[in-house]
Amino acid sequence: MRKPVKNNVSWIGYIDWELQTFHGDEYSISSGSSQNAYLIEEEKIILVDTVWAPHRCEFVRNLKAELGDLHRIDAIVVNHGEVDHSGSLCELLREIPDTPIYCTANAVKSLEGQYGKQGWNLNVVKTGDSLEIGNGKKLIFIEMPMLHWPDSMATYLTGDNILFSMDAFGQHYAVEELFNDRADQNLLWKEALKYYVNILNPFAVMLARKLPEIESMGLQFDIIAPSHGAIWRDDPMQIVKKYAEWSGAYQEDQITIAYDTMWQGTEKLAHRIAAGIHEKSPGTVVKVFNISKTDKNDIMTEVFKSKAIAVGSPTECNGILSSVEGWLAFLKSLKFRNKKAAAFGCYGWSGEGVKILTERLAGAGFEVIPETVKCQWNPGEEDFMAATRLVESLIK
Ligand code: FEO
Repeated sequence: MRKPVKNNVSWIGYIDWELQTFHGDEYSISSGSSQNAYLIEEEKIILVDTVWAPHRCEFVRNLKAELGDLHRIDAIVVNHGEVDHSGSLCELLREIPDTPIYCTANAVKSLEGQYGKQGWNLNVVKTGDSLEIGNGKKLIFIEMPMLHWPDSMATYLTGDNILFSMDAFGQHYAVEELFNDRADQNLLWKEALKYYVNILNPFAVMLARKLPEIESMGLQFDIIAPSHGAIWRDDPMQIVKKYAEWSGAYQEDQITIAYDTMWQGTEKLAHRIAAGIHEKSPGTVVKVFNISKTDKNDIMTEVFKSKAIAVGSPTECNGILSSVEGWLAFLKSLKFRNKKAAAFGCYGWSGEGVKILTERLAGAGFEVIPETVKCQWNPGEEDFMAATRLVESLIK
């Protein structure tokens, strides 16, 4: 079923209330999601993107019901080859195999890599290329490499001033009412930030360069229509401004403590450090998470907001706990900038844990302070004094 967006543009995607994870199990979904595809019906009829393969039959059936005949589609814009947006192409093109597809050179690689050389009518476009669609309107293509794949692009519709921005500015959030002004504002911004942190932050430097480039094109954005979640029609530039802020080594007055524990010694240290921050810097927001018990995407969102983090693990088998090791690998992949870090943990025998944590945090791009808490057996007065020194250095 289609939903009107503006004039002759409609949404024809899939709202997925049942989706629980994304990118395999890498990204947790707590408020549903959507794959947004769009139909533009001017003198030419253009389909912008499709939906994920499990919904391909329903998607093609809907399109057929709306248009009567799929052959009325004059062109398909593929803004990005990832399967959540290209997953219905095979089903659709089985019926209309000659339909021209407009995409980047890298999208040719991702489409052919995933679906094989199907003989599709692939037309490569670059930034500034355009396609006349009748009634005085045209589509202008804007390459968006690494936002978040090398093949990504956005498409701008003149006249209606709509930017189909692909993954950028999206959220994993199911909004039946479609638009940002109809969405629950708390959920909208919570999910927009979580999406930015966990999907786009690794490419923040490229994003920070891209935003002024788009601005320099002098286009007016009345609507920003991403490929997931709410469409920004009320003050669409608010999300662009947020992205500019987030991509600029963002931090708030917050310190996040993330740890795992075996016999509660490292846990005690975590809470001692938190209490120390509360005492010495009452204005600082402090959040404490057990890595094994808290959603990793949510902790990363808190890390993103923080000016500093403290990470704890006991030593186990000359290493650190596997939960913390995996968490640190994810932390590194998100390429946070402009943040301090500290390491702490308990041990019984060999005690390598804190050294390993320090190395991992430095390798993840954090400015690691020299003060640590390395506690043998149970935390005692000496360890609490070390925790105080760690806090003083962290809040400096
Ligand atoms: Fe929503 Fe990168 O796919």
